[in-house]
Amino acid sequence: MSKIHAAITAVHGYVPDYVLTNKELETIVDTNDEWITSRTGIKERRILKGEGLGTSDLAVPAVEALLKKRGITANEIDLIIFCTTTPDRVFPATANILADKIGAKEAWGFDLQAACSGFLFGLATGSQFIESGKHKKVLVVGGDKMSSITNYKDRATCIIFGDGAGAVLLEPNDEGNGVIDSILKSDGAGVQYLHQKAGGSIKPASHATVDADEHFAYQEGQAVFKFAVTNMADVAAEVMEKNNLNSEDIAWLVPHQANKRIIDATANRTGVSPEKVIINIERYGNTTNGTIPLCLWEWESKFKKGDNLILAAFGGGFTWGSIYLKWAY
Ligand code: UT7
Repeated sequence: MSKIHAAITAVHGYVPDYVLTNKELETIVDTNDEWITSRTGIKERRILKGEGLGTSDLAVPAVEALLKKRGITANEIDLIIFCTTTPDRVFPATANILADKIGAKEAWGFDLQAACSGFLFGLATGSQFIESGKHKKVLVVGGDKMSSITNYKDRATCIIFGDGAGAVLLEPNDEGNGVIDSILKSDGAGVQYLHQKAGGSIKPASHATVDADEHFAYQEGQAVFKFAVTNMADVAAEVMEKNNLNSEDIAWLVPHQANKRIIDATANRTGVSPEKVIINIERYGNTTNGTIPLCLWEWESKFKKGDNLILAAFGGGFTWGSIYLKWAY
């Protein structure tokens, strides 16, 4: 019997309507379109406006459209892995909240926190449940309402983040398509460069933490850039070498969208030519867990069955990794 792989059988994404342009950011912080475009590649990002709306509200439209596309009901889902750094609440898991909102009564679920690499960690985790035969339908969601932890007084970070979510359905495949290999890494020594100072158990929320702006993402951009630019490129090249793939074998490179310069470095290191590199950073900025599923969603119609895709990410933690998958439809 041929090996069972976990294949993506449907993908969908959602971004909120409000467009925060570089021009509008010029009115909020001391910045300009030329600086943002040349340093990051970002022109605009989407923001979820409205009281009482959270990351699950970004995921609901993406998942509902995905289910419709695949022709299945929410009750057929066995497991929901919600990859996010901005959960609706500290607890319970946003996966539970999403399950309730979409009416998935038969699914269990959990949240996965690996910052910008979360979606890749979730894809690798979800794949195990398919490969083992334990589950037939696993939903992996990646989404963040980054505007909820973005300090719009810090011009070096507020320009990069945006809100958005995407989801994929994993199902068993015996034709050799699906997730073939992954290399995933974590290094907690990187915590100092990218983290949220307060709101966790070591520093619960207080008037002082709010006054000190400690509930926002804190980033030492240059340091993160240096680690990201080498590690994301190296790990993508590593997964290709491990699977005897050269640049011509790759149909699409799907990089995390944090900075156009990091994407270009990854493309150069892997030798994948520019027309095969998926980039939407100019429209959405860095949606953290949302970037890769949003790319898959927007390029879905261009993918062909059997296409080799290399997914790569780097994020807070530090966390980084790359996944090799063969598109299944
Ligand atoms: O998603 C997961 C992980 N995150 C990343 O991968 C992000 C990695 N880091 C980056 O993408 C970049 O470091 C940033 C885009 C965040 C910042 O770009 P940079 O080229 O590293 O800028 P910098 O922080 O080193 O600042 C360079 C200069 C500074 O001015 P001086 O000190 O040289 O006079 C900043 O004050 O640019 C200034 N600057 C800005 N100027 C205009 C910083 N932000 C801005 C801004 N507009 N928005």
